[in-house]
Amino acid sequence: MQLLMIAPPGAGKGTQGRLIADHFHIPLIATGDLLRDHVARGTELGRAVRSSLDRGELVPDEIVLDMVREALIAAEAAGGEYLLDGVPRTLEQARAMYTIGVQLGMIPNIALHLKADDAELVRRLLARGDDERRTDDTEEVIRRRLKLYHSVTEPIVAWYGRRGILVCVDAMGPAEQVGRDILAALEAMRPTVDYVPEQLRRTIDLTGLDTAFGHATAAPTTPG
Ligand code: AP5
Repeated sequence: MQLLMIAPPGAGKGTQGRLIADHFHIPLIATGDLLRDHVARGTELGRAVRSSLDRGELVPDEIVLDMVREALIAAEAAGGEYLLDGVPRTLEQARAMYTIGVQLGMIPNIALHLKADDAELVRRLLARGDDERRTDDTEEVIRRRLKLYHSVTEPIVAWYGRRGILVCVDAMGPAEQVGRDILAALEAMRPTVDYVPEQLRRTIDLTGLDTAFGHATAAPTTPG
């Protein structure tokens, strides 16, 4: 299975990501964790991204995509399955992830979307802020992260819907219930994505399809 998760902050990507990765024995690639690890270790990359993380703003695409490509190459060597948490966050990243998937023969085949109300998400993240003191779990930054999610990340859910690989799960209930719902939905999809042996699969490359691939097309011009 080659999975990615799209969900707002606090919906449970980290919580459920660990459950899914353990259940299916697949590597979990969580961009937020990778970036926070760089910050904690004080690497050059960590110093470059620290203020973006603290302010709840997006880190430049090239930094995230290089990191994810490297992790996917490692996942390829481990069998080719993976679960992405935290990427893509923009349509540009979604297209870039697809292109990387084509290059590595590892195109995502399920996009898991977790849905929850903003009021519940703010409540969860403020509670975590009290416990863990994550620098971006203050009310002002949580609201900025949610605004960014609704403006640039949420629109890509429909893009995956049009490709027929979208699985939506209600993430408002207790974590255990959400986890069961996710595993049940993914197990139901599994025969579809795992059934065809690799040598019989035919990749359809969407990158040249312009509008279907999410590129804006020029308005048709009327002959004068
Ligand atoms: P990232 O780490 O991905 O943060 P996020 O998207 O804001 O998500 P969170 O980790 O806050 O929440 P989650 O959905 O994982 O929920 P969790 O399971 O932790 O990214 C951090 C930053 O890195 C970004 O702001 C950006 O700066 C940068 N970044 C990352 N990826 C990037 C990219 N692709 N491009 C550019 N920049 C990027 O749960 C949250 C809390 O709720 C926990 O306390 C948990 O115990 C609790 N909880 C979970 N589920 C439930 C439940 N069902 N009921 C009650 N409580 C629950």
